[in-house]
Amino acid sequence: MKLTIRPATLDDLRAVTDIYNQAVLHTNTTFDIGPKTLKQRKTWFSRHDSRHPVLVAQRDNRIVGWASLSPWSELPAYDDTAEISMYIREDCRGQGIGRELTGAILKAGKEAGLHTVISCITEGNAASLHLGKELGFRRIGVIKEAGRKFGKVLDVYLNQIMLNPRLTDPVQGQKTVLKTRG
Ligand SMILES: CC(C)(COP(=O)(O)OP(=O)(O)OC[C@H]1O[C@@H](n2cnc3c(N)ncnc32)[C@H](O)[C@@H]1OP(=O)(O)O)[C@@H](O)C(=O)NCCC(=O)NCCS
Repeated sequence: MKLTIRPATLDDLRAVTDIYNQAVLHTNTTFDIGPKTLKQRKTWFSRHDSRHPVLVAQRDNRIVGWASLSPWSELPAYDDTAEISMYIREDCRGQGIGRELTGAILKAGKEAGLHTVISCITEGNAASLHLGKELGFRRIGVIKEAGRKFGKVLDVYLNQIMLNPRLTDPVQGQKTVLKTRG
């Protein structure tokens, strides 16, 4: 069965939302608590563009997973940093789709000129931790007791991958040097 990975469209959003909501309701891999409506996910989708792509994995005319690179922060100095998310349909996990989809979204981010990508992984998410390490993410820290879901206090592991060489200031062509007074 051929797996196709392609940019998501509005028509995919129902399936994208359903896959996400399964994880929201039954796992602590996301810190969302209540299911998202289609309208809410449309707003989320509208915040993505060619620099912050959403990809879907399709098999036999069915969406079996999705991945996204979202802005890490609204503060403009963070423009070249993104946060990765990926979710595979529950009955399609463990078949290599996550690996393929994650590789594809990182490639898209690199081609779009992003500098670095961060993943936030809840403690105990062995599949995500393993997959991230395999694809080149390195642990940069842990937010102790970052959240609480299903009555459990949870740590979040921060992992980072560099996609493109360090950027120089596009105007000055060099790193900015702060001048001191006096
Ligand atoms: C995490 C997730 C995206 C991985 O996708 P997947 O399609 O299930 O993973 P793959 O089949 O591509 O497997 C990727 C690797 O993880 C390993 N893996 C899968 N499940 C695992 C588990 N429970 N424990 C440890 N490793 C696991 C696989 O063996 C494979 O490694 P390998 O190629 O070295 O053998 C998917 O399981 C998922 O959607 N989980 C719920 C949501 C989630 O956690 N999203 C990420 C939030 S950070």
